[in-house]
Amino acid sequence: MLARLLERGIPVRAMTRSPETANLPEGAEVVRGDLADPAGLEACLDGVETVFLMWPFHDAEPMAAIMDVVERHARRVVLMSSGAVQDGLPPDRHTGRVGRSHAEVERLLAASGLAWTVLRPSTFAANALWWADQIRAGDTVAGPFGAVRMAMLHEADIAAVAVCALTEDGHDQACYLLTGPQALTQVEQVHVIGQALGRPLRWRELSREAARRRFAADDSFADVLLDGYAKMLDGPSPALTKTVEMVTGSPARTFHQWVLDHAGEFAPQGVVHPC
Ligand SMILES: NC(=O)c1ccc[n+]([C@@H]2O[C@H](COP(=O)([O-])OP(=O)(O)OC[C@H]3O[C@@H](n4cnc5c(N)ncnc54)[C@H](OP(=O)(O)O)[C@@H]3O)[C@@H](O)[C@H]2O)c1
Repeated sequence: MLARLLERGIPVRAMTRSPETANLPEGAEVVRGDLADPAGLEACLDGVETVFLMWPFHDAEPMAAIMDVVERHARRVVLMSSGAVQDGLPPDRHTGRVGRSHAEVERLLAASGLAWTVLRPSTFAANALWWADQIRAGDTVAGPFGAVRMAMLHEADIAAVAVCALTEDGHDQACYLLTGPQALTQVEQVHVIGQALGRPLRWRELSREAARRRFAADDSFADVLLDGYAKMLDGPSPALTKTVEMVTGSPARTFHQWVLDHAGEFAPQGVVHPC
């Protein structure tokens, strides 16, 4: 996203907790900051007109303080929310933690005096990188909830929509549900990765308990993730949207394309055989 903004000649300031390892494109001004320290954001936001806000927390508690600082400096916010937010459902009626916290963040943004655009992405295709170690080491991916369907979304499509929302008129007070073009089970995702890499891969189902043991005992995200999968398994297949194409003019990229774009991450010793 930063590279696309810079290509358009738009000055970009990127805030990260770790400027030395962030590996951001040349031309971006990189500053140190932490969303857990709202007071420290004052300097980061000096002179900024439009903010792209990614919400890294699993609750909405820090949002009010962050909004205070943002409102003192900027005019508009493009918020990376989540497809887990259900339209029209109050935050406290969301049963999942991810949906509840993002819904509350959206509510606080809408109640602010800022112009805003909300992006609600479906499952990131990049989550498949969680399997990269297993795929580099062998032909089997072991995981829980193999039957869960996800509308895998290429990060380049999120970036393309974000750039439109950040730079063009006509996106104020818009809420964009972004999905990939197909809903694939995790078993199917592994087969697509195998096809794209040119070597058959298998799924091995793990019980929830066995999967939980692969995370650190105190990893709070593990339970958020596994609860989310359990809920998705019981729910309908994710609805697909054409929002990426509607906003950018280009259809959303397939999961197969995403794998080709990231084939090197799955290849043992960097050997890639895309087909
Ligand atoms: N993954 C999905 O499938 C998915 C789908 C829909 C929506 N989303 C939403 O998209 C957002 C990003 O998701 P993700 O899966 O990419 O999460 P992630 O892998 O955990 O990335 C979180 C990012 O936030 C940064 N970060 C963490 N704490 C921070 C802080 N206190 N101050 C500033 N930066 C901080 C991290 O930077 P460091 O390098 O400093 O750790 C990292 O770049 C989340 O809001 C998530 O709910 C994700």
